Amino acid sequence: MKTVGNTILITGGTSGIGLGFAERFLKLGNRVIICGRRENRLVQIKKDHPGIETLTCDVSEAKERAILCSKVMGLFPAINILMNNAGIQFQMNMTTPVNVDMLRMEIETNLTAPVHLTSLFAGYLAAKEEAAVINISSGLAFSPYAVVPVYSATKAALHSVTMSLRYQLRQTSIKVFEIAPPAVDTELGHQNRSDKSQSHGGIPVSELIDASLQAMEKNIFEIPVGMAKDLREKGEQFFDLMNK
Ligand SMILES: NC(=O)c1ccc[n+]([C@@H]2O[C@H](COP(=O)([O-])OP(=O)(O)OC[C@H]3O[C@@H](n4cnc5c(N)ncnc54)[C@H](OP(=O)(O)O)[C@@H]3O)[C@@H](O)[C@H]2O)c1
Repeated sequence: MKTVGNTILITGGTSGIGLGFAERFLKLGNRVIICGRRENRLVQIKKDHPGIETLTCDVSEAKERAILCSKVMGLFPAINILMNNAGIQFQMNMTTPVNVDMLRMEIETNLTAPVHLTSLFAGYLAAKEEAAVINISSGLAFSPYAVVPVYSATKAALHSVTMSLRYQLRQTSIKVFEIAPPAVDTELGHQNRSDKSQSHGGIPVSELIDASLQAMEKNIFEIPVGMAKDLREKGEQFFDLMNK
């Protein structure tokens, strides 16, 4: 895949991996559109990077996904890449009654949204000479971390649907990539931490992006990075070690 001259929609571009990709893709010479729920962040990002286009959208709402899709096609008809990046992570103790609203929101954001958005864009992207869907899964797709059971399950499901999508689109111009990050130093899961300013640690976002772009340029479609490579290879053999 060429990494210049594209028009790219990144869901969840207000922080972390999405923002990192937005900045990098812009620098490389792409048109970049990001979306997210936090309007204050979108305004600040637009100030910092006037070249990044911003749209407010809550991808956990089906109606908002449909509106996002028609807005992007109307305003940025050259769109040829969709990056499904928006994600949330909740800790969940399944030994006592779970909060069903949180459960639904995690599944809707991490799994339903990428599947629905991809389906809304697929026909449009297929008309482009070169196009791509890039799904951000996780090393936890290959072996669950029991503290975040539903998060891990949504990422396993995203890995699975990405394989099926790649198969369904095999005769089109759309390349389907999956980036499976290891722990990356972002805000993900900050609501789980007592000190919200603390990160859960992990590799810098720039390291993830360097590795991902190198692989995408070589048309490597499944891209586990760092520790996620071991998880991809050995899968659930890692379960006991990870969950000690
Ligand atoms: N960090 C890691 O260790 C790690 C590891 C493996 C995979 N990942 C995956 O990488 C992706 C990005 O996460 P991150 O680490 O960069 O975390 P992050 O800094 O918390 O970023 C998450 C992004 O998703 C957006 N988002 C969440 N819910 C949304 C919704 N309903 N509608 C629109 N946007 C929404 C957030 O924007 P708003 O809050 O403004 O809506 C934010 O821009 C996620 O899919 C995550 O699962 C992360």
